[in-house]
Amino acid sequence: MWRGRVGILVLVLVAAVVAVPLYAGAGGGTRADQVEVYSWWTGPGEEDGLGAMIADFQARNPGVHLVNAAVSGGAGSNAKAILASRLLANDPPDSYQRHAGLELADDVRSGKVADLTALYAEQGWTKVLPRGLLDKLAIDGKLYSVPVNIHRANLVWYNPATLRALGIAHPPRSWAEFLKQAELIRTKGRTPLSIGPQWTQKHLLETVLLGELGPDGYEDLWRGPSGWTQPATRAALETFRKVLAQSDIGSSAADWQPQLDRVTDGSAVYAVMGDWTYSYLAITKRMLLGQQFAVAASPGTDGVYDFLSDSFTLPVGARHPDLARRWLIECGSATGQDLFNPLKGSIPARTDTDASRYTGYLADDLRQWQDPHTRIVGSLAHGVVADNAWNAEIDTALGLFLRNGNTARFAAAVGAAYEATR
Ligand code: GAL
Repeated sequence: MWRGRVGILVLVLVAAVVAVPLYAGAGGGTRADQVEVYSWWTGPGEEDGLGAMIADFQARNPGVHLVNAAVSGGAGSNAKAILASRLLANDPPDSYQRHAGLELADDVRSGKVADLTALYAEQGWTKVLPRGLLDKLAIDGKLYSVPVNIHRANLVWYNPATLRALGIAHPPRSWAEFLKQAELIRTKGRTPLSIGPQWTQKHLLETVLLGELGPDGYEDLWRGPSGWTQPATRAALETFRKVLAQSDIGSSAADWQPQLDRVTDGSAVYAVMGDWTYSYLAITKRMLLGQQFAVAASPGTDGVYDFLSDSFTLPVGARHPDLARRWLIECGSATGQDLFNPLKGSIPARTDTDASRYTGYLADDLRQWQDPHTRIVGSLAHGVVADNAWNAEIDTALGLFLRNGNTARFAAAVGAAYEATR
């Protein structure tokens, strides 16, 4: 608990240090012609995608200065904590990144974000976004953020040369098969599974739950505490414990990129991570899909698409709401999405964009997302299925579980936290 508070304090101090030069560079933070856009895209690939959209925005809005206030840290691990302190102090950026889904619900309830339903109508977005995504975006029938992309979370990445060297024919199709392969991998002196900071462990947790419980059982978990009392859930958590024991959690990587580096350099065999990995490996590291790296559905999830979507908001009290609206129009535009997504390693949220821009893995991704036979579920670690209050309690329970390995206590804590955070 105290460690958490000290951590947040440190983040706030870091934010202050990081924010000052940004404001200073932009001319003091109150210039009428500037718009501050807040995200966590600072890594190669994601930063390039954001940069491409920003360049298009600047070309369409001459004279407007866009301040790119991105804070590093995968999955917004630092950005979200700093944003929370800014929202508390009524000092919001002009637009900030949130995932589509329940991640935005707390902001809506506490009146932090403006209703964008009229902007959706004006821009015709309800006609070009998939119904399922609109349902996830809507809170009490209103729309509060504009999605730029679709990502898939349930993927396992590997290096085919490593599998060949180990005599492993294919990546595991179930977690039981992974545990079997792990025994062999260990005897050859490699790490079966590479892992990063706690959010990557939560990302792994959701893919193990999905693989073990199937999509129906997985979705039950987010409807309330009853799913957490099921024996199957306890068994899935036990599998998660065993899977983690086959990872390098004792010396985990600092973020998702170095987590993947361990797979590409062959010291570890697998990593579970979302498809932002594709832009990191294929574009940033210029590696060849199918030869230097490969990807498959995470064990037990073939045909299931665990989705998330990055979106942008208009905070109440934004200093430049009109310019922020113009940024949102960029995010929601077909041009903006087609500039951003091929570099980001994601596919467009809109259904009417130029499919020819999505090649390699992304072409396949787009096909699977649009295939009516694909079962779509929402991500826990990336904000779709649980609001921030419950998600924070899940983080605390997961932190304890990582220390004591007690599956019964973990399941009970998560179920109880659901009730407590209503
Ligand atoms: C997710 C986000 C992605 C990517 C990833 C790794 O939460 O939606 O766009 O940034 O984290 O940082």
